[in-house]
Amino acid sequence: MRIAYTSDLHVDISQRNWELVPYLAEVLKMVDPDVFVLAGDVSPEIGDLEYALDCFSGLRGLKLFVPGNQDIWVLSEEMQGLGHDSYEKYYFYLPEACRRNDFVPLWMEPVVCRGVGFAGSIGWYDSPLGAGDAGMAFPREHHYLLDSVWNDNRWACWADIATLTQAGGGPAKRADAEVAREFNLRLDQDVEALSRDSSVREIVVVTHYPPFVELSVEGIPFTGSRETGGILSSHPKVTISISGHIHDRRDILVGNVRAVRCPVGYLGGDRQKYQDLVRNCLEVIHTLEEEDFLGRGLT
Ligand SMILES: [Fe+2]
Ligand SMILES: [Fe+2]
Repeated sequence: MRIAYTSDLHVDISQRNWELVPYLAEVLKMVDPDVFVLAGDVSPEIGDLEYALDCFSGLRGLKLFVPGNQDIWVLSEEMQGLGHDSYEKYYFYLPEACRRNDFVPLWMEPVVCRGVGFAGSIGWYDSPLGAGDAGMAFPREHHYLLDSVWNDNRWACWADIATLTQAGGGPAKRADAEVAREFNLRLDQDVEALSRDSSVREIVVVTHYPPFVELSVEGIPFTGSRETGGILSSHPKVTISISGHIHDRRDILVGNVRAVRCPVGYLGGDRQKYQDLVRNCLEVIHTLEEEDFLGRGLT
């Protein structure tokens, strides 16, 4: 089975990011993967997300999406004050946008395709990079990670429903560690259910945030939840982790899990042709199928 993956399209960041998507879709059509995975950070605007997902309408294979932090931002303090929050996007608007565009909202519905199970989650972090980290010697090309923390702080709004009944102001935001724990719990349940399914040979887990410390950029604290990695490692059927958020490519082995990412990121002003750019932000991973095992046995 051939699984193509990318992440961090960021179509709202620049015209080049916006214009790249149809090229990406054209190349994907030629690759004709069995499964296409988009691991979050398309745009905070649902309309932009719909544009991007629609670009891939010509693909024949299964299409899977998990949201990134920028997809769940509520970009208006007024709207937040009225009770519109990131849960509303995560559990309602984003799944709807996926279904309208023939993408499976993987964080809502794990799927099985030809013996491979797929589960997903945004994969939140236990604690953001602190204010003290701002002074660290951040590699220039990763400064966006600091911006991301400040923006999450303002626009990610996981409302604590318990505070809705209290008078005055909008609902309080839940602590990151609490949000991470909640999403980890759901992911664990989904992976557990796939593990128990005897028709599932192996499991691919898609998260936006990196599940393993090993996926961090050197010199920058881990922006994920160690518990997420623990979930992946504790289920022997999990063989592949696809994530995003950090804008560089990775393909490493963490225990028995192959952990990969291949993001688009923020496209600068360089005039590299789109056709060339696509090569750096689209990757294909193969999983072995029953016939491969038979074939191997004969040699
Ligand atoms: Fe991103
Ligand atoms: Fe992100």
